[in-house]
Amino acid sequence: MKYTIITGASSGIGKELAYKYAKEGHHLILIARRINILYQIKDELEALYEVSIECFICDLNDTETITQTIENINTHFEINCLINNAGISYFEKVEDLSLETIKNQINVNVIAPMLMTKLLIANLTRNNGAVINICSILSYLPNAHSSAYTTSKYALYGFSNSLRLDFPNLHVLTVHPITVKTNFFKDSNYYSNIKKVLYPNIVAKKIYSAYVKKKRKVNIPYSIGLLNIIYQIFPRLIDHINRQFFSNKK
Ligand SMILES: NC(=O)c1ccc[n+]([C@@H]2O[C@H](COP(=O)([O-])OP(=O)(O)OC[C@H]3O[C@@H](n4cnc5c(N)ncnc54)[C@H](OP(=O)(O)O)[C@@H]3O)[C@@H](O)[C@H]2O)c1
Repeated sequence: MKYTIITGASSGIGKELAYKYAKEGHHLILIARRINILYQIKDELEALYEVSIECFICDLNDTETITQTIENINTHFEINCLINNAGISYFEKVEDLSLETIKNQINVNVIAPMLMTKLLIANLTRNNGAVINICSILSYLPNAHSSAYTTSKYALYGFSNSLRLDFPNLHVLTVHPITVKTNFFKDSNYYSNIKKVLYPNIVAKKIYSAYVKKKRKVNIPYSIGLLNIIYQIFPRLIDHINRQFFSNKK
């Protein structure tokens, strides 16, 4: 039996991915810190679909715990998809960022996906597997007051593109959404100021479709790919728009 691992499955995009993948018949390993929520999701999904769901508590800020968790998974399960979804953000000016919050974001958003991929690579490749890394529009279009988060998402995108070169038979998919309505932003009023917001169930469907089609990258919506091209040609214009309209994330 082959399993898909989803990190950050207790909330937002990760939770919706769990519902979508289970609906499509995939057995799942769910990872997060809030294990009680994972068990609730397991109960619901196993009642709805003919799938097996396993839950692991793991703090992705802690490399020792990640290593032990993945060693345990490698001993008992065959894995054909790893979805590095868990992520955190602190939107602050660089002078206000503490060293701890910088490290926390780099650990959870970059070190954890890299370490998990490294520890699972033999398992994934023998199962013709896939790695899906949930990046962001910020993986190539930086935002004001988001230096640590933007750095982490550029890094995750770079890691993914490099991984694909090292393992030509591994399907590596990067996902680049704009703002999604989840628990991600500490300021819940943030969403009321944004004109275009995505919903996590729609994002999960688009990710699944890109996975099935073996795509290497999905921008959600597709039009942000065009914005990236404009940024390459007119970076000062996009910087100006960014400062004017996107400096209020929290
Ligand atoms: N929301 C957006 O606007 C947006 C846009 C572009 C990209 N993204 C990316 O999408 C991904 C999912 O975000 P979301 O919007 O769904 O956020 P969310 O609702 O806040 O969910 C984040 C998930 O990550 C898990 N997590 C956080 N810190 C963790 C840690 N130290 N150890 C283990 N798990 C941890 C949380 O689980 P526990 O708290 O239970 O541990 C939770 O399940 C992130 O990588 C984010 O960067 C989000």
